Amino acid sequence: MLAISKRFSPLLLSHRRLFQTMPHQQQKVYDLQSDTATEPTDAMFDLMKSASRGDDVFAEDTTINQLESYVAQLLGQEAALFCVSGCMTNQLGLRVLLTQPPHSVLCDSRSHVFNYECGGIAYHSQASVSPVIPKNGHHLTLADVASNLITDTLCSPVTKVVSLENTLNGTIMPLDEIKRIRQFTKEKGLALHLDGARLWNASEATGIPLHEYGSQFDTISVCLSKGVGAPIGSMLAGSKENMQRARQLRKLMGGGWRQAGLLAAAAHHCIDTIVPTMSQTHALAKQLAASFESLGMQLTTPCETNMVFVDTARTGITVDDLYQALKQKNILIGPGPGTQTRIVLHYQITQHVIDTMVQVATELVEKRKLDPTPIVINQQQQQSVYPSSLK
Ligand SMILES: Cc1ncc(COP(=O)(O)O)c(C=O)c1O
Repeated sequence: MLAISKRFSPLLLSHRRLFQTMPHQQQKVYDLQSDTATEPTDAMFDLMKSASRGDDVFAEDTTINQLESYVAQLLGQEAALFCVSGCMTNQLGLRVLLTQPPHSVLCDSRSHVFNYECGGIAYHSQASVSPVIPKNGHHLTLADVASNLITDTLCSPVTKVVSLENTLNGTIMPLDEIKRIRQFTKEKGLALHLDGARLWNASEATGIPLHEYGSQFDTISVCLSKGVGAPIGSMLAGSKENMQRARQLRKLMGGGWRQAGLLAAAAHHCIDTIVPTMSQTHALAKQLAASFESLGMQLTTPCETNMVFVDTARTGITVDDLYQALKQKNILIGPGPGTQTRIVLHYQITQHVIDTMVQVATELVEKRKLDPTPIVINQQQQQSVYPSSLK
């Protein structure tokens, strides 16, 4: 009995589950922990009914095949493969480019493929990773790549793939730099992968078409269930040959799904209707960032698209203060401890939500001014999830 009540005690649920257990019809919760937190709409469910019902292991589903051709064309590539997640498309993309150990992948030290994919590069590709800290503090440059390449063929895992990420922590990697790295990797016989989970954001923010970015890479992964708003899915794009190999490896990883056309139908709709709204989301993120700055908070990463990395230390309030106060308004951000957090906007976060957040933060900061006891934060307590600064 005790075991059962403990298991179901709301106190033991994480903050995340606690919010998710609220039926959405009763209480709308605005979740800014990630742009994966979008809620599927009725329009998506309606579209799912009209999707084809073929078997995608055998590439026999019309809706999926159409989505794959559409995204391949958007990205300036020959072919694409619809998969369950961004981790899967990144790992497949790297795996098709990495053929024979010993070998290694060079990437930004903050990149998702290195930090948050459960060591998948070692697991799936038997490759080691050279994580590089960008000298300019913003993005990897050709100089960073060239000076960290492993070329010793006797004792070291030779670099075979360079993996870039755009956007990374919401910041945009300049196309010119990508082109320089592309030229260099070609000359050196290296392959180039892009984790473009949020390439849509980069493209909408810069006005540079997706294919101008996409055509620079051997394999590209783009996510459909982040800012794009689809319930499930990511796409891998590349040459026909590489996508055929990725299809086989997808099966090997247990990701060969059958009648997944309904998910492709929702995703296709999201690309057409939600991606064009990203600029508005970026404008709201910048507005939030500017308001927080004017309250005395510091941005730990420039706000260039939909993410706001903030340090509240100078205002005397903690992330937990903000988290608790916003929770009262049904607005969810990553909780403390510490003074640093990441706030992520998506298309379902409205002007009203941003205004409420600014108002709540303003009230907290004003109240804190009357009680100027310094906050003491143990450095180890600082949020280490999604590190925004380069250590
Ligand atoms: C940059 C980036 N790449 C890849 C992924 C992995 O996506 P998924 O959660 O669908 O596996 C994420 C997830 O947040 C991400 O932020």
